[in-house]
Amino acid sequence: MEIDTSSVEEHENSKSQFVRWFREVAPYVHAFRGKTFVVAFGGELIQDGVLNTLVQDLSLLSALGIRLVLVYGSGPQINEQLRLKGLPQNFNNGIVIPTNTAALECAKEAAGEIRLDIEASFSQGLPNTPMSHSQIKVISGNFITASPVGVLNGIDFQLTGKVRKIDTEAIKFAIEKGTSVVLLSPIGFSPTGDAFHLEMEELATSTAIAIGAEKLIFLSSSEGVKNADGSINPEIARAKAETLLQDNNIDTTTTKFLKNSVMAVKKGVARTHILPYGIDGSVLLEIFTHGGIGTMVVEDNLDDLREASIDDVGAIISLIEPLESDGTLVPRPKSLIERDLEKFTVLEHDGVIYGCAALYPFPIEKMAELACLIVHPEWQSSGEGELLLRHIESRAKKMKIDRLFALTTRTSHWFLKRGFVRGSVKDLPKEKQINYNRSRNSLIFIKNMK
Ligand SMILES: CC(C)(COP(=O)(O)OP(=O)(O)OC[C@H]1O[C@@H](n2cnc3c(N)ncnc32)[C@H](O)[C@@H]1OP(=O)(O)O)[C@@H](O)C(=O)NCCC(=O)NCCS
Repeated sequence: MEIDTSSVEEHENSKSQFVRWFREVAPYVHAFRGKTFVVAFGGELIQDGVLNTLVQDLSLLSALGIRLVLVYGSGPQINEQLRLKGLPQNFNNGIVIPTNTAALECAKEAAGEIRLDIEASFSQGLPNTPMSHSQIKVISGNFITASPVGVLNGIDFQLTGKVRKIDTEAIKFAIEKGTSVVLLSPIGFSPTGDAFHLEMEELATSTAIAIGAEKLIFLSSSEGVKNADGSINPEIARAKAETLLQDNNIDTTTTKFLKNSVMAVKKGVARTHILPYGIDGSVLLEIFTHGGIGTMVVEDNLDDLREASIDDVGAIISLIEPLESDGTLVPRPKSLIERDLEKFTVLEHDGVIYGCAALYPFPIEKMAELACLIVHPEWQSSGEGELLLRHIESRAKKMKIDRLFALTTRTSHWFLKRGFVRGSVKDLPKEKQINYNRSRNSLIFIKNMK
């Protein structure tokens, strides 16, 4: 009997792919555990029928220890209520417009209906679905104090409100245990007991700032901020985002989200994201993959490269460990890494450490060793190794180092291509010659810094 080996191979491949993929996600899971994300979306998302899949993904985030505050808008649903009542429909694209008494009644009805839809969605739990065993509770309430927008440029905005105060303690308490999510509707209440219709984007931004969220995520009907060639710009520094807004070449929906993203980042939210809800799993793709899927706004995208701090020790060890076990790097105990921490530079992206390098100076000989140069396998071959090398070289130059050297068993060509030349043990600083491990027989590469 002939056995079809191709299907067995395929099965083995998909198994090892799954394991590899799951391990690649691990650094993000560690980085975001216990952090708070504010996720905001307009009523269009519900109208377009993607609420259930979004809730499945959000439940997964919650199960992974991410605390969630959800903020929703209700523009299309308010329009629908107005239409049913034979009143003019004017809630368009999140633009702040005056809300009269009839429109506020529609806003309340729409908000209530959406809240129930979201609660129903979180209550799914059929076996063999992503929501099986999920037990997340949805908490909503009077967390937001609002005040009227008032009269602007001669227009009375009536019952359109703005956020005046957020009960951050109550929100934090509600999500603390990680078993509940807080759901904020676009309706706020004034101390006089009146209700006001709020703009979803402003509500989400103010909340993310007030509770010190790690991320503010806007789910948009647009794809994100585009480059001139039509591709999505995956990461924008805040200052650059401000210039783009001034240039005024971005569609209205994205402009609104970008304006709020800039505001949030300026006021301390580490990252904001504009993601297309139309792509299945966009939240997961953005959070758990290096390249993401939408646009991320950060204070300064150069902060990818920085000196290591005590909080990075665990991440550095996870980078080094696999290379120690396969013999690429010499084993370094944790105590040594802690002791030498100021010698380490790390590459960080969105809270995940994905590369490191260390510089050990030998001042007497005006030499320094480049050690522990690592880029996580998932992020190799995009110039990150080179970036680390350049940074180490500039540190070495500042220390008035004349020659930089590296010891390696497997990376000789990488160093040769970057201006290093082969050296021998006698070219090393005296102290290093004494400690040189002859049985390991590493090759020595030296680069002139002068
Ligand atoms: C060496 C290392 C840091 C390079 O990181 P990187 O981000 O992939 O580097 P870059 O993107 O700047 O360079 C990629 C280029 O180097 C090449 N390269 C990667 N590893 C190499 C190796 N071991 N030998 C020779 N060339 C190598 C790639 O093929 C690629 O070539 P290309 O540009 O022609 O396609 C990374 O491969 C690594 O972490 N290796 C394991 C640890 C190690 O060996 N460290 C050095 C000893 S301390």
